[in-house]
Amino acid sequence: MTELRLGVNIDHVATVRNARGSAYPDPVRAAKLAEEAGADGITAHLREDRRHITDGDIEALMEALTLPLNFEMAATPEMQKIALRHKPHAVCIVPEKREERTTEGGLEVARDENHLAHFIAPLRDAGCRVSIFIAADQRQIEAAHRIGAEVVELHTGAYCDFHAEGRLDERDAELDRLTRMASFANDLGLEVHAGHGLTYDTVQPIAALPEVMELNIGHFLVGEAIFRGLEASIQEMRRLMDAART
Ligand code: PXP
Repeated sequence: MTELRLGVNIDHVATVRNARGSAYPDPVRAAKLAEEAGADGITAHLREDRRHITDGDIEALMEALTLPLNFEMAATPEMQKIALRHKPHAVCIVPEKREERTTEGGLEVARDENHLAHFIAPLRDAGCRVSIFIAADQRQIEAAHRIGAEVVELHTGAYCDFHAEGRLDERDAELDRLTRMASFANDLGLEVHAGHGLTYDTVQPIAALPEVMELNIGHFLVGEAIFRGLEASIQEMRRLMDAART
């Protein structure tokens, strides 16, 4: 089976830093440790309200990183301008609501197709790989394909929530949907990524999906780093992913 990449999301290193308005812990240092621990890429989400990652963090990451940066952003003119200035390896378009604690659902591509097609065209022209964060829904995948995205990232949040709540029938139904939609997207020629809410307990069935090429994981890894250190936290995730893959 093809290799599965791990993108480590460092947003919540910045969350801890910002809780005190200090300079530490430093997301760039976390990114470098993540690389040593076996990450294949770094993900950072610059939110409109800058609640975790800041403009300065993106600048510092672009300067310091040897790993590819996956820049998560909402489809706004401000973010497009920032992305075009930095030209990160990848741009992942996510929905964003001010009041949400985290990215709650996937992007409504089907409803906003025309705008999104125009929005991503300059990013693609600038050489960024454009990924669209969506629910495992055939309509959204078809729309992502039509607007010219190269990658879809399937939202695993509902699958993880059902697991955590012990709603195992619903979890399995969601896993079945993710399985079918990963294959559907792959058949259309899209590269398939997945992420949101993944933990040591939930990662393996997703890592085992042969069409999934990359997982993006953040909150759990940063939380687990409190107990075992960031490198060990990432190494264990990597081990579980590799075991599921074989
Ligand atoms: N993928 C996308 C598109 C996201 O928005 C997020 C959260 O920022 C993640 C993956 C990672 O989710 P988590 O932090 O729950 O692992």
